[in-house]
Amino acid sequence: MNVFVLYHLLLALTQMFGASFRQASQCRMMHFKCRGGFYPRAENTVARFPVPDEKIHWDIDYPEYKPTNYTAAHIKGQSWADPEISHPSFHPQWNQLDGNVNRKSHVGVYKIENLFPLNPVGRTGVCGRGCLGRWGPNHAADPIVTRWKRTSNNEIELHSTSEKKILQFVAIQRRDTREWAIPGGMVDPGEVVTTTLKREFFEEALDALGRKPEQLNEADAIVAKFFESGETVYKGYVDDPRNTDNAWMETVAVNFHDETGLSVGKLPLSAGDDAVNVRWMDVGKDLELYASHIEFIEAVAEKRNSHW
Ligand code: BGC
Repeated sequence: MNVFVLYHLLLALTQMFGASFRQASQCRMMHFKCRGGFYPRAENTVARFPVPDEKIHWDIDYPEYKPTNYTAAHIKGQSWADPEISHPSFHPQWNQLDGNVNRKSHVGVYKIENLFPLNPVGRTGVCGRGCLGRWGPNHAADPIVTRWKRTSNNEIELHSTSEKKILQFVAIQRRDTREWAIPGGMVDPGEVVTTTLKREFFEEALDALGRKPEQLNEADAIVAKFFESGETVYKGYVDDPRNTDNAWMETVAVNFHDETGLSVGKLPLSAGDDAVNVRWMDVGKDLELYASHIEFIEAVAEKRNSHW
């Protein structure tokens, strides 16, 4: 049985016996976007040490492996970033809640080697933290806000070939890479994920930070109410281009669906904060999205039985 089949078998079993969302187990996952080529937006060129597919996992010998050490200069001393591992004041509590910093991974217990946490999926060709603030898991949350695509007569449109309903989701264009993405963001220390989901949507898709408090209006109340009930579709590791051997992204992706299109589905969107553009985007397998966002969108399409 190959690893791909095994991974999907485990996933199916998890779905049958409990969790109704995708939860990445660290057993034999692969990553692609954080391997090969160059580290994104580094001050100088940072080439990743080559890691072929069969050498990703730590338990496979790779004696020639010499990852490039890179930690971005701009994260040093930032309030949201950890100090260097060797700093005398730094005593991280790995795999647990460390004060209000969550150092637990969604995928299980990660290993520590020579003081450094190890990426649970495997080698990336870069060690250090890259541009991520935390050693180990860096937690994000992704709100997937959806509605049905409708005709000008307000009727739900069916896809010409699959004859299934077409889902639309709120997508933003990221300021950093210009790629289209879910309007997610980092979970602040001590923040609960539900707060992050709502806050990021307000900031990136409704430009809450660009508005004065008195401009907060009825629409905001609609969104706040709408965000009270969501369904988790993914929880785990993200194949993010910023990942390194010692720092990586994880997320919780939650679907908030406007069935009638009369709630958030009607609101005017306005890009703000880390987003330069925002729009309702049709869901389908040809979408090209940031990191592994396409997988989370696919999970929503499956759940809602929409065109894919
Ligand atoms: C983004 C999230 C994304 C996460 C992992 C965060 O910077 O805002 O949308 O899921 O990184 O890639």
